[in-house]
Amino acid sequence: MNENHLTSLIDQMTLDEKIAQLMQLATPFYKGASNEGQITGPMASMGISEEVIRSSGSVLGASGAKEIINIQKTHLSENRLGIPLLFMSDIIHGYKTIFPVPLAIGCSWDLESAEKSAEIAAKEAAVSGVHVTFAPMVDLVRDPRWGRVMESTGEDPFLNSQFAEAFVHGFQGEKLETDHDRVAACVKHFAAYGAPEGGRDYNTVDMSERQLREYYLPAYKAALDVGCEMVMTAFNTVDGIPASGNKKLMRDLLRDEWNFDGVLISDWGAVKELIPHGVAEDTQEAAKKAITAGVDIEMMTPCYVHHLVDLVKEGQVNEALIDEAVLRILQLKQKLGLFENPYRGANEEREREIVLSDSHRQTARDLASKSCVLLRNESVLPLNADQKVALIGPFADNGDILGAWSWLGSKDDAIKLSDAFSTRIDSGQLSIAKGCDIETGSNEQIDEALRTAENADVIVLALGEHSDMSGEAGCLADIRLPEAQLNLITALKKLGKPMISVLFNGRPLDLHGVIEHTDAVLEAWYPGTEGGAAIVDLLYGDTNPSGRLTMSFPYSVGQVPVYYNNYNTGRPKDAPDAQERYVSQYLDIPNEPLFPFGFGLSYTTFSYSDITLSADTIKPGQPLSISVSVTNTGNVAGEEVVQLYIRDVAGEVVRPLKELKGFKKIMVAPGETKQVTFELTEEQLRYHHSDLSFESDPGAFVAYVGSNSKDGTARQFELIK
Ligand code: GLC
Repeated sequence: MNENHLTSLIDQMTLDEKIAQLMQLATPFYKGASNEGQITGPMASMGISEEVIRSSGSVLGASGAKEIINIQKTHLSENRLGIPLLFMSDIIHGYKTIFPVPLAIGCSWDLESAEKSAEIAAKEAAVSGVHVTFAPMVDLVRDPRWGRVMESTGEDPFLNSQFAEAFVHGFQGEKLETDHDRVAACVKHFAAYGAPEGGRDYNTVDMSERQLREYYLPAYKAALDVGCEMVMTAFNTVDGIPASGNKKLMRDLLRDEWNFDGVLISDWGAVKELIPHGVAEDTQEAAKKAITAGVDIEMMTPCYVHHLVDLVKEGQVNEALIDEAVLRILQLKQKLGLFENPYRGANEEREREIVLSDSHRQTARDLASKSCVLLRNESVLPLNADQKVALIGPFADNGDILGAWSWLGSKDDAIKLSDAFSTRIDSGQLSIAKGCDIETGSNEQIDEALRTAENADVIVLALGEHSDMSGEAGCLADIRLPEAQLNLITALKKLGKPMISVLFNGRPLDLHGVIEHTDAVLEAWYPGTEGGAAIVDLLYGDTNPSGRLTMSFPYSVGQVPVYYNNYNTGRPKDAPDAQERYVSQYLDIPNEPLFPFGFGLSYTTFSYSDITLSADTIKPGQPLSISVSVTNTGNVAGEEVVQLYIRDVAGEVVRPLKELKGFKKIMVAPGETKQVTFELTEEQLRYHHSDLSFESDPGAFVAYVGSNSKDGTARQFELIK
């Protein structure tokens, strides 16, 4: 069906049918769904008519080829013009083969593996009938109190942009029309959802447009620049107007300035939430504001279907706005080939072969081992095979390692730490105890742990948060491990045995109580279906840890927000002439985070030398090459993430102390030296000025090359224009 057919199809549609095409409903509204008719809670009061369901445009949350084929078949038999449904679901870090949470994938600094994970997620989802995934989530994050930091790739706009591109490539491939093993991607949450005040979900986001453009917008733009098909609105306000009713953000910027002509969907209920936000008095005004702002699909609230017909008839909303929204939705259906084949890739037989296959599991295991970050190691790792291990903690034998937004993944499919240890060493070498629950504990549990550890050579502590202690609405004001787990550590420490902490969590934690009492700390995040196996690979050195943090670990929650690309202030604490008191500092804690962006240890060590610039100036069209030699000075092979940062010494506005501009993850054999070269361009030195112009300024710059955002070797250069 080509463009003309689509417009002639729209001409055949009644106004009611057009508006119903803008409605997205969850599966209980649809015949053929496994939960058909289970319309409960707020859904029950939505007032959705049978006519709306018959003419609706898309379904949220369907899964499985059988269910989706059933729903589509029934729908097509009842839809007057035979317009197929779009099936959209949250496939964030895997479909049934669950990969590490995106914050962990970000810590792999491995774009190729990230793309591969999205490709596999798409393949499993597409064969199960899904057409669109509500991913990637690319919200920049600086506040670990916010539960959804687990869903982001971190605090840096450049790195987030690189991952955004990788995920979109993985989900969509190069030919979405013909490659039925791919799904359309939907970048979210537009915009700046990751910056809620107080780290409290759905809370106010308020910042300058310059800050928005400099830090929070690049990753969405990166996703769209590589063809991401959809955008989802954010729940929050942007400069005082909720995103879903924000014409300046959606029409002026997204559509006009960025030329995005794909489908814009609201987040769940976000159109109706214009009322509690206080920019709409009722659902009619909410409908008018959202359609005027350019929101094509209303997810799970009925403002459009209840009011747009009247608003058009009363001349308050131009029908052309409805037509353009419908056209964009039909164009996406056409791009996915649904008019020719409404079932696209859905295939029950292939589904059984593909979903959760061994090769998918292996890819998940490899990516998980690349995503874990070794934060401390006082020569107790790697373990050796003849040691007796006491595996203790609430995550010792716990499948809750998939993390939030893994709704189709099953904990029963997960390789737990206990499973992996049992496979790796003889049962006589392994003893397991819970020691405490995640948030509560008892003396009996601790006594059992002490007995279990009595004859062990080493204690492996498996600690962390419930997966629902992060994720949507999973915000915490206290980001330390629960008291019960800290008590367990203190009790076991008295045994005087080497202790290794493995952490399962969805956010940077305040690690006091852990870092000073245990000899090694491995940040495993939520490592996914193969998590236990990946962690044991790392603990025994079968794989050398290579993860690097993409979000700072604060010294304490009082430091938050703390991030590496901060400004210097007029009274930097570390200035040569700094006063004792009147500088930017805390009286009770350091300014620096506990662990900085880019940090991570290896079982080997690397040295940097011969950092040279191809010139001491850079010009437009004349890039600067920055080379460094990296030597593996240890006795095992390992991957190093070589990082390039720059500092613009004096700008028209204040400039961050460091900005990541390049990275390369390289494998280096023991004793080997590899040269790494970065090409820095003038374009990469551009930034948003006070008038929002995006350009570079001539003047002094510093390049830093190193293994993280804190330790780098400086080289000066100058931009000449
Ligand atoms: C949620 C989330 C969004 C998700 C949507 C559909 O509230 O904010 O990320 O895609 O609903 O499940």
